[in-house]
Amino acid sequence: MTDSPLALLGGESAVATPGPHFTWPVITEADREAVAAQLEASVSIPDRSGVVAELEDALASFLGVRHVVTTCTGTAALHSMYAAARIGPGDEVIVPALTFHATATPLFHLGADPVLADVDNRGQLDLDEAARRITARTRAVVAVHLWGLPEDMDTLVSFADEHGLMLLEDGSHAHGAAWNGRRTGTFGAAAAFSLNGPKPLSAGEGGFVATDDSELYYRVLLHGQYNKRCHREIPATHPLARFAVTGMGLKLRIHPLAAALAHAQLPRLEGHLDGRQAIAARMCAALDDVPGIRGPHVPVSARPSWYALPLRYEPAELGGLPLERFLAAVRAEGATEVDRPGSTCPLGGHPLFQAPGGLLPGYADRQGPAVDDLPTAEHVHATTFKLPVWHREEDIRLADAYTAVLAKVASHAKDLL
Ligand SMILES: Cc1ncc(COP(=O)(O)O)c(C=O)c1O
Repeated sequence: MTDSPLALLGGESAVATPGPHFTWPVITEADREAVAAQLEASVSIPDRSGVVAELEDALASFLGVRHVVTTCTGTAALHSMYAAARIGPGDEVIVPALTFHATATPLFHLGADPVLADVDNRGQLDLDEAARRITARTRAVVAVHLWGLPEDMDTLVSFADEHGLMLLEDGSHAHGAAWNGRRTGTFGAAAAFSLNGPKPLSAGEGGFVATDDSELYYRVLLHGQYNKRCHREIPATHPLARFAVTGMGLKLRIHPLAAALAHAQLPRLEGHLDGRQAIAARMCAALDDVPGIRGPHVPVSARPSWYALPLRYEPAELGGLPLERFLAAVRAEGATEVDRPGSTCPLGGHPLFQAPGGLLPGYADRQGPAVDDLPTAEHVHATTFKLPVWHREEDIRLADAYTAVLAKVASHAKDLL
């Protein structure tokens, strides 16, 4: 295939099958039945009963944690987690500069300050950069397992301990991922996960908080699950029980139909991840010798969930060919699912982080980071593109076709200059 002319320059497309080549989540008959049955059972669950309790129990046992509280979105889960961790006005929380904005934005709604720390060349939190940003107001540091590749949790746990910071996790890309055999989302005081559409575990829309800490759990309930749940789950003798009727005033419950979908999907997650692991390894091996493309480094301790396979582009190895031109040629070959990260990007450039006072009155005196303060986040983002990671054996030929397309375009780079 590498010998034939590029489709972008008039040759034939390498991938003949029309897209989409990857759809997620996979909806089975069991999912349809679960959602249809839920439609009959109940479409509103104000307490911890029915499918909400079933999903929370199943997630708690999957992760090996004491408490799980489901929410309407991952953003809401992060909001509840920070509120429950008692992050408040003036507090600072260190967040990697390269992530989806919701890792940090709920902090604005608590009067706190997200402090962006640069990432290293692998796109993971740079602990020297994080240390440089610690002040007397720093309360917590957030681990984000970007694209489902776990952070080095040995060093992050030590870092948090050494500096007396609370460790929190955003596991939104990393359901079922593990570090040294321990699931991501179980290393910190609490973790928040998204269950949004394309996530490894999907409810369509939803999220959850996981924690072993009962105090944190009560506060998560009070943040977004007021009245019946709080009455039933916070012991009457607990000082916070008197707030049960209103909680903190927000309502962030998951929809029962969404809970039913995630509950039906969860038993298949492990199998999906095993399949993804095999196919990701195969794609990385196929790309090993392809100039201009680097697969991610996967430490032996890491079991990724491969929300996507992030690849790095080295234009210098392809005569300086710009990434956009390279990708245009890849898509012209029919590999239409290859794309660049969009909203998972350096946060410092967003107007909300540059000038939060423009939208949030309490932040009038805050300034965002200088443009050149987070150079590695910018560089990693500018040189990353990603592939979906399939999990079924019948999709291996698609995965092979995609890596063959990348090899073909790389070998013809000079024709594109
Ligand atoms: C890392 C990360 N955190 C949080 C979220 C927010 O989740 P949701 O869209 O469910 O609110 C996302 C969503 O894409 C995400 O990628």
